[in-house]
Amino acid sequence: MNLIAELEKLVSDLSGDLSKVASLVMLDDLQTVYLGRKGKLAGLMGRLPEVASAERPAFGKAANAAKEQMGGMFEERRKSYQAAAADRDLARFDPSLPGRMPGRGALHPITLVMEEICHILNNLGFETISGPEVETDFNNFQALNFPLDHPARDMQDTLFINEGIVMRTHTSPMQVRAMLEKKKPPLAVIAPGKVYRRDSDLTHSPMFHQIEGLLVDEKVSLAHLRGTLTFFLRELFGPEVKVRFRPSFFPFTEPSLEVDMSCILCRGTGAREVGRGRKEPCRVCKSSGWLEILGSGMVHPAVFTAVGFSPECSGFAFGLGVERVAMLKYGIDDLRMFFENDLRFLKQFS
Ligand code: DAH
Repeated sequence: MNLIAELEKLVSDLSGDLSKVASLVMLDDLQTVYLGRKGKLAGLMGRLPEVASAERPAFGKAANAAKEQMGGMFEERRKSYQAAAADRDLARFDPSLPGRMPGRGALHPITLVMEEICHILNNLGFETISGPEVETDFNNFQALNFPLDHPARDMQDTLFINEGIVMRTHTSPMQVRAMLEKKKPPLAVIAPGKVYRRDSDLTHSPMFHQIEGLLVDEKVSLAHLRGTLTFFLRELFGPEVKVRFRPSFFPFTEPSLEVDMSCILCRGTGAREVGRGRKEPCRVCKSSGWLEILGSGMVHPAVFTAVGFSPECSGFAFGLGVERVAMLKYGIDDLRMFFENDLRFLKQFS
């Protein structure tokens, strides 16, 4: 058989082989067998010396034509494969399926409660201010009437940065900052923010949130404090809430008052109905019917003096723990929930 006839046979062999191809991979392999550098066509071309020199141009032409023809056959086959694959994808695509929505973020329950508290107090005329979490010993303690060796400093389990600089242990230093900045009364501010103490257990976190309130004006009395805080707690927890004031102690207030409200779980009864007239002691208020919710008092004259206000000024202050409010409002009994960032927990507030 002469070489030109062999070329023709090669082309017809290919059309037979192509009919057996069942995948794109097989097609690629077959292309290498026929047209690759060491493939069948290259093998025939390598036998050029066997051809009489007069016939070589004709053989060259035929070889090129065969190469082009076979290339076209592979190309056509490849296209039909790609079209079939696209059809398959379309067949699998269901345009009636709902799309995949990106996950939506939500505000943290602590943020939600903080916003709600600030909203109520802003409506009463208190302006929201903020300040640093790294505080001077002066603002955190001394100006608030804790002398350097005052035993009340022990209540605070302070994280010291260095001598004279602390992580603020409460938001009360914002009282000092507000008065130093305003220079004279009147002022009514609230300061929400993070505070730090050196304890960590089931009911204490080394970082938690407080909101501080301060009002200074002429002739501010205990009645103003009681009216404001009673109104505030009823806005926050509901109009049926009862409020009581107990004597307490804070170095920066005189007198100092602890504010309790009636337990929101047992409505102040100390017990909860558990069906068929049976009652169970309330675990939230430990059967007392009352919950401690705020610290407060009339601003101590020593605090006014420390910030350059007249000791004759009058004002009241209060501070509350945001985590505690959030636990009561949402019925959460484990403080750690707020800091673990478990999405199953957080998603419930979106
Ligand atoms: N700073 C106090 C604490 O962290 C809370 C507090 C009590 C703030 C009485 C006040 C106040 O403004 O009047 O325990």
